[in-house]
Amino acid sequence: MNRTKLTILALAALFVAGITGQALAEGDIIFTEPVMGVIFSHDVHVEENGMDCEECHDDLFEMEALTAQQNDDFTMQSLSEGNYCGACHDGDMAFDSDTRCASCHIGVIGYQKATGTAERSTHH
Ligand code: HEC
Ligand code: HEC
Ligand code: HEC
Repeated sequence: MNRTKLTILALAALFVAGITGQALAEGDIIFTEPVMGVIFSHDVHVEENGMDCEECHDDLFEMEALTAQQNDDFTMQSLSEGNYCGACHDGDMAFDSDTRCASCHIGVIGYQKATGTAERSTHH
């Protein structure tokens, strides 16, 4: 997949954010399993920290949102063993997965804010 495709996907995300009136930043992915919700930002990793696509794709992650969470081992235990986010979030290359829980875990309320589900439900 190339940057053009990513841009198209990002624009689609912006469109969704636009119609729901919420701030789901472009390139953001929110995992919902096993717990709701863990945020991953392409902007933070690629733009702010200058990482290459190859550092994550396709060894650590597929280029398809919500694929990793289909695996039984997408857990904190697995991260601490150096898999998925834990390949970098080991306290060396990036902050340890055993710390700063709320940096990754935005919870149910964070998920509702980002996707606009909370606002929609109050209007219905
Ligand atoms: C720090 C790790 C990391 C880097 C660097 C990274 N990605 Fe990703 N990317 C992810 C993760 C995590 C997912 C979600 C995968 C999953 O859910 O299993 C993802 C998903 C995607 C998707 C699917 C989005 C969707 O909505 O289905 C595309 C496209 C993508 N990345 C493109 C890129 C491109 C292009 C680059 C380089 C400019 C890049 N990524 C750099 C981690 C990264
Ligand atoms: C290839 C290495 C790599 C992978 C894989 C990776 N990250 Fe990161 N991440 C970094 C680096 C480097 C930083 C910036 C340095 C720091 O904050 O320690 C960072 C920063 C972050 C931040 C801080 C954002 C901020 O605004 O301060 C969050 C949250 C985060 N990553 C979540 C994740 C999640 C969730 C995953 C897995 C889905 C993941 N990362 C996978 C390298 C990675
Ligand atoms: C670098 C990002 C990151 C940090 C920091 C982080 N987590 Fe997680 N966590 C994840 C990811 C990714 C998953 C799997 C996706 C999901 O459940 O949505 C997960 C899943 C979980 C789960 C459910 C799966 C399991 O292992 O039982 C729990 C509970 C959890 N985290 C607790 C914590 C606690 C407590 C902290 C702080 C001590 C923490 N996490 C810090 C990324 C992170």
